[in-house]
Amino acid sequence: MRRQMVAGNWKMNGSTGMVKELCDALKADSSTSDPNITTVVFPPFVYLSETRSRLQDSSISWGGQTLSAQGSGAFTGEVSADMLLDMGCRYVLVGHSERRTLYGETDQMVAEKYAAARKAGLVPVLCVGETLQERETDQTEAVIDRQLKAVIDLDSIQGMRAGVIAYEPVWAIGTGKTATPEQAQAVHRFIRGKLATYDATIADSMIILYGGSVKGDNASDLFGMPDIDGGLVGGASLKAQEFLKIVRSAL
Ligand code: PGA
Repeated sequence: MRRQMVAGNWKMNGSTGMVKELCDALKADSSTSDPNITTVVFPPFVYLSETRSRLQDSSISWGGQTLSAQGSGAFTGEVSADMLLDMGCRYVLVGHSERRTLYGETDQMVAEKYAAARKAGLVPVLCVGETLQERETDQTEAVIDRQLKAVIDLDSIQGMRAGVIAYEPVWAIGTGKTATPEQAQAVHRFIRGKLATYDATIADSMIILYGGSVKGDNASDLFGMPDIDGGLVGGASLKAQEFLKIVRSAL
């Protein structure tokens, strides 16, 4: 039985006041301490310290939204895996579509970040997903295959064991247009099948999240699908009650 996970990607949103309010509300709700679910938040780097002080006595984990593949040195503006660990992070997002499209992260760069995070002891959450144009031209599986393969080629299937995958169709992110549970399930099954060609045990135990306009009122249907193990939530993770409704849908 795979454990369910609900993760909130706050993106470039928030303030000290919002972080305090949101963390306190999430911590106060009993669903976030249910042993059957992992709840994670991904605040902007500058709020990791505040997040840690608010959540360290809770069951909620936190992580960075990206990281550098480098260990340390002259890389202005970057944040390393060790720095994230130093802030108490357990998780880190890798290859979010906004990083890929807006900041030019290639499959190779994403794979290097994944390996750096994993080797340092973080749990990388590898985001994969196709654009609308790729879906409409029947390239969904080829794109996901390529994105997964880049990581497996560099870090091996054993490296995948330490991570989590988030399937996020780019056309569903922040658009209010969610993949139907059937559309999402088909891709999740494809991902699990692909992993199984390398190692069936790893494929079976892999947590695969769905992301893209997950809301309180569509989460249960999505999470009810056999290969969907929870969600990576953007917009709806900024509102405590909406996010908690999503967490409860995974129970
Ligand atoms: P959204 O974002 O829930 O606002 O669509 C999801 C994500 O980008 O992780």
